[in-house]
Amino acid sequence: MDQAEAKRKVGRRAAELVDDGQLLGLGSGSTVAAFLVALADRIEEETLSVRGVPTSHDTQRRCEELGIPTTTLDEEPRLALTIDGADEVAPDLDLIKGGGGALFREKVVATASDRFVAIVDASKAADTLGEGFDLPIEVVEYALPLVREELVDLDPELRTDDGDPFRTDNGNVILDLATGPIEDPQALAHRLDRTVGVLEHGLFLDVAERCLVGTDDGVQERKN
Ligand code: 5RP
Repeated sequence: MDQAEAKRKVGRRAAELVDDGQLLGLGSGSTVAAFLVALADRIEEETLSVRGVPTSHDTQRRCEELGIPTTTLDEEPRLALTIDGADEVAPDLDLIKGGGGALFREKVVATASDRFVAIVDASKAADTLGEGFDLPIEVVEYALPLVREELVDLDPELRTDDGDPFRTDNGNVILDLATGPIEDPQALAHRLDRTVGVLEHGLFLDVAERCLVGTDDGVQERKN
């Protein structure tokens, strides 16, 4: 599969879902980057009037470069539609996110949004979440020793960047959890929600209403 081409195709299809006047949640990652390019084209060609809340500094910067108007949840606490990527997609459209480390803001924006559409290339499809991707969690550094101990059975690994701890846009660190196939995602989500020091986890359960999957043959649509 030509992954870059699959991302472009799915990004273009996602841009077609946007209606004039909408307030958008703008996810993070390379698939979203392709969506933003297609959205900027529509804004220019059709004089679409939309504004988006970016989920990362990277997406904010891309919007500025592409001329996509942005806003904040402070100004617009409810959003119509969020478009975001994912690291794994289960058949019921539950997701693992956080490969880029933006999972906290992504979950905030998803929660503020009436609709959420995931956009991925075909490599992200999984039968069971966790079978091919470790689950990221964002952790407040002060609590890191405690969280590591609490989750020792999931073999937490501190994410690094050039030898230093990777820092999120919120100044926190990421632990990647080697969960293996997650048989009960709700139970794991509840466990992580209860773990003091975990700011947020990358399980997005019952969030996506639709997933667009870029393949060599075009874009497949999966709906819940
Ligand atoms: C960032 C994310 C991204 O959406 C996810 O990592 C997918 O990225 P890409 O589109 O580059 O594969 O969750 O926190």
